[in-house]
Amino acid sequence: MSLIVASQLEPEFNAGLAALPFAPKVIEPPVGEPWLAAEQADVLVVRPSPEWRALRGAPSPASWPGKLRWVCSASAGIDSYPAWLLDAPLVTCGRGTASEEIADYVIAAIYLRAKDLAAASIRSAADWRFVPLGRFAGATIGVVGLGAIGQAVARRALALGARVVAVRRGSAGAVTPEGVELLGSVEAVVAQADHIVISVPATLETRHLFGPKLLAQAKPGAHLINIARGSVVDQAALLAALDAGQLAFATLDVTDPEPLPEGHALYTHSQVRITPHISSNYQAVRHRLFDKLSQDLTRFARGEAPSDIVDRTRGY
Ligand SMILES: NC(=O)c1ccc[n+]([C@@H]2O[C@H](COP(=O)([O-])OP(=O)(O)OC[C@H]3O[C@@H](n4cnc5c(N)ncnc54)[C@H](OP(=O)(O)O)[C@@H]3O)[C@@H](O)[C@H]2O)c1
Repeated sequence: MSLIVASQLEPEFNAGLAALPFAPKVIEPPVGEPWLAAEQADVLVVRPSPEWRALRGAPSPASWPGKLRWVCSASAGIDSYPAWLLDAPLVTCGRGTASEEIADYVIAAIYLRAKDLAAASIRSAADWRFVPLGRFAGATIGVVGLGAIGQAVARRALALGARVVAVRRGSAGAVTPEGVELLGSVEAVVAQADHIVISVPATLETRHLFGPKLLAQAKPGAHLINIARGSVVDQAALLAALDAGQLAFATLDVTDPEPLPEGHALYTHSQVRITPHISSNYQAVRHRLFDKLSQDLTRFARGEAPSDIVDRTRGY
């Protein structure tokens, strides 16, 4: 019997899955209640849609996990789903599908800060003046969370002549790219970095990790870049650190909540740049998600394990 795959992704994406050689039966989960697909599907492909967010904190539906053998999250983070999602026999995540794009965003943020050519541009001879520029080569990039995104950032930063210091949680088998200096604590990374890149998952451990104590460790002039999740940063503490000169600038692709309410101080702060959670450039890289999912579904149909299984105790 063919595998029944319920997918919350776009119709063209699902048509591509249905055309895989082992011909899975691809169905759309009930709109507004995607978890009900558990009554008939073997595999449920989910995205962080509002229905899932609305059920965070609520008990699991009676039918969950039903017939499901595998829940596959299109997103790398699983923090936007209710905790009972992990009651499914197997949960995987979309780790790696957008890391390269996100790393490009981080490098752009560093260059915008270090070499602000727009601010240095002149329009007349009278404008001719000395404008001090910062440095990329020779700067220290601190990567907090050396996973798929952190490693993609590290590769680029090393190639551009920066020093890279990093920290990770310490999962077994984790790889440290050549040239990266792995330090023993988040504090040590923050204390040395000119540009601090946040690339940890949102877990109980990382909630408000960047609070007053940690931000006080930053070098004067340091630049904080968050492409992970808004909840990792205590936003009140961030504003206080910027105002006190403990930090020079923050680039935030993610905030808590998203979007921030109208009038929030971060919108208008002169040392803050916010982008609307676009660093993954999802539309441009969704072919990578398709390739990953196609390979994983093919493996699963053969009785093999798919990639990037979420560890229930770690929470990512
Ligand atoms: N802005 C966006 O559009 C976007 C897109 C994709 C992902 N994200 C976010 O970015 C996060 C990271 O993505 P990824 O694909 O790089 O994930 P990943 O491959 O799972 O890497 C996460 C890294 O964080 C480390 N870590 C976990 N908890 C830690 C802690 N308490 N202290 C220090 N390090 C810790 C892990 O350590 P180990 O290596 O020791 O396990 C790992 O190196 C995702 O969870 C998601 O929330 C955002």
